[in-house]
Amino acid sequence: MAIQLVTTAARLRSESARLLAQKSGSSQGLVPTMGALHEGHAQLARTAVAQNDVVVVSIFVNPLQFGEAADLERYPRSLEADLSLLDAEGVDLVFAPSVEEVYPGGAPKVRIAAGPMAEKWEGAVRPGHFDGALTVVAKLLHFGMPGAAAGTRLPAYRAYFGQKDAQQLALVKRMVADLNFPVEIVAVPIVRSADGLALSSRNRFLSAEEREAALVLSRALRLIEERANAHEPLDLESAQALVASQPLVDLDYFDVVDPGTLDPLAENCRDTPFRGEGLALLAATVGPVRLIDNIPLNS
Ligand code: PAF
Repeated sequence: MAIQLVTTAARLRSESARLLAQKSGSSQGLVPTMGALHEGHAQLARTAVAQNDVVVVSIFVNPLQFGEAADLERYPRSLEADLSLLDAEGVDLVFAPSVEEVYPGGAPKVRIAAGPMAEKWEGAVRPGHFDGALTVVAKLLHFGMPGAAAGTRLPAYRAYFGQKDAQQLALVKRMVADLNFPVEIVAVPIVRSADGLALSSRNRFLSAEEREAALVLSRALRLIEERANAHEPLDLESAQALVASQPLVDLDYFDVVDPGTLDPLAENCRDTPFRGEGLALLAATVGPVRLIDNIPLNS
């Protein structure tokens, strides 16, 4: 294995500096993850490797973004398999710190307040989740920031997030813009299995029947996308009705929003021909699993 595992921020800094110098590199990419990696994460890593000289993937199950201790305990951990997957993608460094390394004084007293954008959609069912997620993302962005060797220019710095977690992505972009983090945020499109289901670490908990039922979610999103591409009214209601017709799927929300603010688009975007940008996003419970999915609209 060429990939290197580091567990402290100091080692991450020294090893990424060494690799940048060795490759005469001018860019560094960071892919923050919580491990249990699948093809969706591989796509994030692949994109980062294609765009940067040195790529770091962080693996850290962040206690701050879990509501219940039991959920944190249950979160799947598979470091060996994760390392093989990332090695095959050509990632240089994996940063897998302990909780003490990230939060040396215990839970931080000062945190990022994600604000009103975090109170709706996923935030409505997971209070405090996005404060915890943004707090660790802020720390990881600092840990993974490249330095400049004497007499050289500061390397470009990019961080990669999946479009799948659309609300997290929108909030990270806002945090970086509002608080002037010197990093470019790159959004990587959702990876789907051949039948359309968006990949997620949680899909493993679906029975075959539930998995089949869950396909209605991507079908309904595609309906909206087809109408947007054809400049037709989006007719959200009939797409919602399609999901509601599947008895194993319990729909929580399904709306079309502004991708930057996550506010629902004005009613007339539903009844009049769609033009411009939007994001169709939904969440539903299927069996034991809460699934989220979305499709960016651009017509
Ligand atoms: O999307 C995730 O896996 C996590 O929320 C992240 C960005 C790694 C922060 O813990």
